[in-house]
Amino acid sequence: MGAIMAIISSQSSPQPDQSKGRSAAPDVPMLASQRTKPTQPAGSILQPKANPQEQTGKQDEKLRPQRLSEYIGQGELKGVLDIAIQATKSRQEALDHLLLYGPPGLGKTTISLILAAELGVTCKVTSAPALERPRDIVGLLMNLQPKDILFIDEIHRLSRMTEELLYPAMEDFRLDITIGKGQSARIRSLPLPPFTLIGATTRVGALTSPLRDRFGFVQRLRFYEPHELCQIVLRTAEILTTKITEGAALELAQRARGTPRIANRLLKRVRDYAEVKNSGEITQEIAREALELFNVDPCGLDWTDRRLLTVMIEHYQGGPVGVDTLAAATGEDSQTIEEVYEPYLMQIGYLHRTPRGRIATPAAWTHLGYQPPQEQLHLLP
Ligand code: ADE
Repeated sequence: MGAIMAIISSQSSPQPDQSKGRSAAPDVPMLASQRTKPTQPAGSILQPKANPQEQTGKQDEKLRPQRLSEYIGQGELKGVLDIAIQATKSRQEALDHLLLYGPPGLGKTTISLILAAELGVTCKVTSAPALERPRDIVGLLMNLQPKDILFIDEIHRLSRMTEELLYPAMEDFRLDITIGKGQSARIRSLPLPPFTLIGATTRVGALTSPLRDRFGFVQRLRFYEPHELCQIVLRTAEILTTKITEGAALELAQRARGTPRIANRLLKRVRDYAEVKNSGEITQEIAREALELFNVDPCGLDWTDRRLLTVMIEHYQGGPVGVDTLAAATGEDSQTIEEVYEPYLMQIGYLHRTPRGRIATPAAWTHLGYQPPQEQLHLLP
């Protein structure tokens, strides 16, 4: 059997708790100019979340590495998985349940599809928001073949009832279904084939401990190094039959926020630019021109990153400032700030999280053209 990917639902997931961050009460008064959110350029190419095309598009499927040996980066994780694959195959069992966590766009779905290919099983892909009713998960589990992989994205968003159905399914390969209501309700247990659940999340801390404890492996995906992203860009360019110099590939890699999905997206946009402005070859000069046009700065910061840091610097002297205050002051959602923007800003050393709030580091001040104040330095860890 091949590694077939079955997309169970292509429903695009709702944004996390839209109302939560926005209604958060600021702990300091806002200036009138802070209350309205200046209009951000729509659909930033630096957003790490997949757009519908990237989720299900045939073209994007071609870009995914199919085997572990083709996969660039995440060396430690690949080492762990390589051992697990070999051991599982030799015992002829289903792979142990696996929880993958880390920022969006780093390859959680790709890893799951690779595992299915390496193990010669089918991977069924779904996401927690598509499993609202208990019957959604029941249908999926009942249709699994022995050793199949069930991939659930955003697993921290499962409903309580769905999560409770998963406990015996994961532990004993058993489905406990309640039949009837009230006093006459009975539980019927149905056997399931041994299967592997791969859960993916950007918020491992939001998982309940009974769910987290049922995974045999809990593995984190890290941001990629520029040299790894450069290799990914060169590989993708080859698949797309696009000519690109190594200097240009590195230029894209440095601005891709440590994220392959963003690197590949930048490549496609720069390819368009090169086709219109040049012979089609992407040189470093063409890449720089295009990226400037798309408002992607040399560190990969976009409009929202710069706005967050600028608000911290101009209105809160660089911090410390609470995330809810920052959300209210910028009009961003606090969960999006925490899950999408902050991890990369922390990674490049522009932002620190401290018990008293967020701090823009001297490197951030300098990058945005401000002189960092001396007195703020003692607050930094
Ligand atoms: N395309 C996207 N991510 C990749 C990776 N990690 N290795 C190779 N190609 C990729």
